[in-house]
Amino acid sequence: MRRKLAAGNWKMNGTQANLVEIGKLATAHGESAVDILICPPATLLHAATSYAPLKFGAQDCHMLPSGAHTGDISAAQIKDAGGSAVIVGHSERREAHEEHSEIVRAKARAAQAEGLMAIVCMGESAAQREAQNTLDIIGGQLAGSIPDNATGENLVVAYEPIWAIGTGLVPTLAQIGEVHDFIRARLERRFGAGVGRSVRILYGGSVKPDNAAEIFTVPNVDGALVGGASLTADAFSPIIKALE
Ligand code: G3P
Repeated sequence: MRRKLAAGNWKMNGTQANLVEIGKLATAHGESAVDILICPPATLLHAATSYAPLKFGAQDCHMLPSGAHTGDISAAQIKDAGGSAVIVGHSERREAHEEHSEIVRAKARAAQAEGLMAIVCMGESAAQREAQNTLDIIGGQLAGSIPDNATGENLVVAYEPIWAIGTGLVPTLAQIGEVHDFIRARLERRFGAGVGRSVRILYGGSVKPDNAAEIFTVPNVDGALVGGASLTADAFSPIIKALE
């Protein structure tokens, strides 16, 4: 059985004062039956890790372990700060930093080599969905972005339609189900049924307290990667509860 995962991506939001929200979540969900992971900005990662039993991760990593890469952080540094996971290939990085799937794959591999769980993101644009290319796009990103050594522990796939991120727009349950079933089938085909069925697949894009429960009824949705609604305990806690 795959353990459910509620993951929060704070993006470029939050300062020390916002750690209080993490404290509230740790108190409210200390004995949770699901995994709860927060990916705050790198500036808060180490301080956040004092809030056990929640887990913490970063939002990106470099593909190399160290060196002359101003402004970047490595998987080893994330681990050193107490992180256990890292998001790679978010559409905001694919677009703003021109990170194509080959780079995403190298970053995921670097994360896994340090024992971190790589959360590999993928998703289609509005135009690509409109043109009925969604499954082709996802198939290409999946094949290109995921390293060969995947396991249920070192890999999570996050399906995040670009047009649903921060917009309040959400695909229908049938649309979410179609993509998640497709990802599951591709994972099983590539890695075999054992690994393919053990990798968790998250949905991300405008998940809110009022739509989380129905999204979690969709088969092969093993949790959510939440942006805006993960910033406060008031908004994230009901989403976690819907998964528990
Ligand atoms: O990684 C999470 C994300 O892109 C979704 O953001 O604000 O639509 O929940 P949001």
